[in-house]
Amino acid sequence: MNAQTQRTAVVTGAGSPRGIGLATARRYAQEGWAVVLTDLNQAGVTQSGDVLKNDYDVPVLALACDVADPDSVRAVVEAVAASDLPPVGAVANVAGIPSPSSFLDMSLDEWNRVIAVNLTGSFLVAQAFVPQMIEAGYGRVVNMSSVTAQHGGGVFSKTGYAAAKAGVIGLTKGMARELAQYGITVNAIAPGVVDTDIRVGSDEDNEKKLSAAVPLGRQCRPDEIAALYVWLSSEDAGYITGTTQSINGGTYVC
Ligand SMILES: NC(=O)c1ccc[n+]([C@@H]2O[C@H](COP(=O)([O-])OP(=O)(O)OC[C@H]3O[C@@H](n4cnc5c(N)ncnc54)[C@H](O)[C@@H]3O)[C@@H](O)[C@H]2O)c1
Repeated sequence: MNAQTQRTAVVTGAGSPRGIGLATARRYAQEGWAVVLTDLNQAGVTQSGDVLKNDYDVPVLALACDVADPDSVRAVVEAVAASDLPPVGAVANVAGIPSPSSFLDMSLDEWNRVIAVNLTGSFLVAQAFVPQMIEAGYGRVVNMSSVTAQHGGGVFSKTGYAAAKAGVIGLTKGMARELAQYGITVNAIAPGVVDTDIRVGSDEDNEKKLSAAVPLGRQCRPDEIAALYVWLSSEDAGYITGTTQSINGGTYVC
């Protein structure tokens, strides 16, 4: 174990090889955190775990988990408790799904799933680990919102996604107020367009158009989001709570 490894970060949605979750887990490991990677995609998260174990001298645990399923989240908590990892000091809620359907076309099933994964999943995972943070005397929760929440729909995902990601901002503010008494901070990140595989079916032409529409002229890299997650989890960021950190290349300036 790396001599500096004193805390564990739990990262959801870490099973996509080009995704924000794996980039975030990698950055925690680079900075000496032990890491628990979780994802709905069992093969993907196992592969991500193997990559980190190979590249970094920190403890790594890779577990399948559906963040929208309380039993699945409970199983992760039990596996972490049964491990010899250091105390959980950070939860990085990254798992999420898009929702390209327009308001009039959206089925109730799609609505429920988008809310369940993006919003309820963040609630369940944070609620499962915060008691340990209170006990250990250190805690950071970083949730994933989106610029879509700020301007009400985007180029790819629409109203259902905007509602779920706006819910994440409310969840973040409420948790920040309630958990401040324990010294636990809670913040959200609201990215613009990030270069990952989330936009299933988007072709090269569309991706070029998305990049051109960003004032900085390019999409965000996953490692840029990862750096923000890890910094918000640091001791240096201990006086920042209840905020939504925009990282969008100037797409939405408020
Ligand atoms: N890429 C973007 O442009 C962008 C912009 C703003 C916000 N976001 C948000 O960032 C997060 C990461 O997205 P990404 O771009 O890396 O996408 P991605 O599709 O590469 O990664 C998302 C990961 O979440 C996992 N996942 C899906 N449902 C899950 C569930 N129920 N339980 C656990 N894991 C589940 C997927 O298997 C996948 O590995 C998402 O919350 C997304 O909404 C992305």
